[in-house]
Amino acid sequence: MRHLLSLLDLKDEDFTRILQRGIEHGKNRKLAPKALENKTVTLLFEKTSTRTRLSFSVAVMEMGGHLIALESQMLQVGRGESVEDTTEVLARYVDCVMVRTHSHRKLEVMSGLDRISVINGLSDRHHPCQGLADYMTLLEAGKDLKKTTIAFVGEPNNVFNSLALGALHSGSRIHLAAPEGYPIRPGIRDHLRKRNVQLEVFHDPAAAVKDADVIYTDTWVSMGQEEEAEERKAVFQPYRLDDQLLSQARSDVLVMHCLPAHRGEEITDSVMDLHGPTIFKQAENRLHIQKAILEWIFELI
Ligand code: CP
Ligand code: NVA
Repeated sequence: MRHLLSLLDLKDEDFTRILQRGIEHGKNRKLAPKALENKTVTLLFEKTSTRTRLSFSVAVMEMGGHLIALESQMLQVGRGESVEDTTEVLARYVDCVMVRTHSHRKLEVMSGLDRISVINGLSDRHHPCQGLADYMTLLEAGKDLKKTTIAFVGEPNNVFNSLALGALHSGSRIHLAAPEGYPIRPGIRDHLRKRNVQLEVFHDPAAAVKDADVIYTDTWVSMGQEEEAEERKAVFQPYRLDDQLLSQARSDVLVMHCLPAHRGEEITDSVMDLHGPTIFKQAENRLHIQKAILEWIFELI
């Protein structure tokens, strides 16, 4: 049984296959209209979502499957039923569950039971579906991933972690520009070191973006961090993607954002509007890559 909790769950060949298949789905929305016939997928949300919810919903519909999208507060798990018992019950009704949760540990418990395929639709630690869509977007932009330097400017949180773990498969170089006190998680750093991923950590964003092919940012205040909002907005001020910072980068640099963007905080209107074609392509590619992920989960590719 396959699960996708992080990009560590993929072999290099799975990563490549999923990206290629995502590109094929992008070229033809009707590529596999019956692939999920007789399959039911459940989406379970502890946090809000636009892209993940809609892209998985449309992906399942366009592949002939059935979909049930739920908020966890609507279920008994929201008032104390155990994750283990909930998983056992889900396994008796549906074929796959995508979960967006505050606690990555819950995903480990669910997938550890091996009763139903589990996909991480964003946890406090990883966002593998986003990472796959991002690398697909870079391939479509004509990048040779092995020769690509991605400068992530902002907090090394879930989105950064998946981008960085993607480099285990893609061979891309990673720069991180983050304030002191916001280090890379030791577990992620260890995986990168073990596989000789070229990683450089900067406190100066201009130094991080200087030779980069891609600049990536994410919100300064992730879901669940709202209480720290004021402090974070102050600490991350120097890490905003604005025209001044972009003027330090190569003129052909690509700018990426997982969205939702907080215009005027981590990215200005001006940068967001200029680089909208790449950023909204990332969002579009969530749909195409979810199809490839579901095919991988069900061992169809
Ligand atoms: N990027 C992303 O996961 O967006 P949503 O939170 O809207 O799903
Ligand atoms: N880091 C953000 C990503 C949202 C898609 C969060 O966790 O809220």
